[in-house]
Amino acid sequence: MKITVFGSGYVGLVAAACLADVGHQVICMDVDAERITALLNGQTPIFEPGLQELIASNRAAGRLLFSHDIEQAVHFGTLQFIAVGTPSDEDGSADLQYVLQVAQNIGRYMCEPKVIVNKSTVPVGTADKVSAIIAGQLEHRDMALNYEVCSNPEFMKEGAAIEDFTRGPRIIVGTDSEWVMSTMRECYGPYNRNHDKLMFMGVRAAELTKYAANAMLATKISFMNEMASLAEHLQVDIEEVRQGIGCDPRIGYHFIYPGCGYGGSCFPKDVRALCHTAEQLSQPSQLLRAVEAVNERQKTVLFSKLHQAFNGDLAGKTIAVWGLAFKPGTDDMREAPSRVLMEALWQAGARVQAYDPKAMEECRRLYADQLQASNLNNDAELLLCISKEEAVYEADALVICTEWKEFRAVDFYWLKLQLRAAILVDGRNLYEPDTVRHARLIYFGVGRTTDL
Ligand code: UGA
Repeated sequence: MKITVFGSGYVGLVAAACLADVGHQVICMDVDAERITALLNGQTPIFEPGLQELIASNRAAGRLLFSHDIEQAVHFGTLQFIAVGTPSDEDGSADLQYVLQVAQNIGRYMCEPKVIVNKSTVPVGTADKVSAIIAGQLEHRDMALNYEVCSNPEFMKEGAAIEDFTRGPRIIVGTDSEWVMSTMRECYGPYNRNHDKLMFMGVRAAELTKYAANAMLATKISFMNEMASLAEHLQVDIEEVRQGIGCDPRIGYHFIYPGCGYGGSCFPKDVRALCHTAEQLSQPSQLLRAVEAVNERQKTVLFSKLHQAFNGDLAGKTIAVWGLAFKPGTDDMREAPSRVLMEALWQAGARVQAYDPKAMEECRRLYADQLQASNLNNDAELLLCISKEEAVYEADALVICTEWKEFRAVDFYWLKLQLRAAILVDGRNLYEPDTVRHARLIYFGVGRTTDL
């Protein structure tokens, strides 16, 4: 099949590469010329395990093309995937300008029947808007062409995007058109072999399913974080509680890990957008507003613990931070808890020595100002270190913000010798408190009994 994918972000790039990998002819189009040039030069603009190799092999095989040319892209595919960003607007609603711009372009240039597949996360009713824009353009051009708009939300996780795209539990398609159903069966056939994962439903139901899934997962996390706060006050270890409830299949072990709050480009934005939708309908969601508020508060928990440990005096202290990305397996720092922590530390007059296996460049880009020494005698507020060992060198305390595998095994006796105040704040509950305390470190976890 000939497929066009609009957008070369996470969703667009992964979808384009995976669809090319099973033999489809795919063109991935982006209005960002620099990004397309980088891709044409063999550079992948994001870090995602396996993606660079997948793109390279499919480009070499001639199945995956990149283009900056809108007209060429519209002419290319029978299937036109929209996979562009829908960032939060100021009021929390999803900003649809990029999606609607793609719709304009499809309507402006299409010359034969097309199936338009919306993969971007969009509020209920967006497929109708896309359809109306294309109809308007065709009318303007005085052309009558057959087209359908369906919803095909994406459920991939950063860090496991290829696995999720190729082996995810479901492929949702919102449509009532037989033509779309058979076209999408053909498109996804290679990834739908052993049991039928395709679920056809109403287009509005498909749009809401995406938000409902992310809101449910975010709710589980905030619930657990709230339980963790309670546990701390009750001198209970939340890790025992997590296991005690996770074994119940009605609850399950997934997404009940307490931590320093959820980040990334999806949960925060999608929870806010769903709240906005509910408010527009005069049905405000108290639950989802609370999910968001708990999460915002949770992101401040690491700083509070340090503040408490240093008796409110963090000025002049050096804090090591392990993990900057919002989760392991990515270089993405959007809405990452590490950012809330570092910004609060700088506000309090502390310095940060940070290390992340993948997000160093992203951190350099975000915090260029903090990397500069403020004057010749002053150290910079932020030092980016080449290893986790360098980050703790002559630091007062260590905070874990992301649970990268390489942080799991630590020689706590060695760590004790590095940290001047011997304080370890474990924002992901990676360690057993007793093991850490055995090395005479002061340990703070999330929802675990504290030392102070
Ligand atoms: C999320 C969903 O998991 C995907 O299904 C969805 O497709 C994607 O959003 C999207 O809408 O595009 P992602 O944001 O990549 O994927 O990452 P997750 O693995 O879901 O983690 C999100 C955040 O929750 C991270 O900050 C993580 O640390 C946090 N988290 C996750 C917890 O704090 N506790 C948990 O138990 C699980």
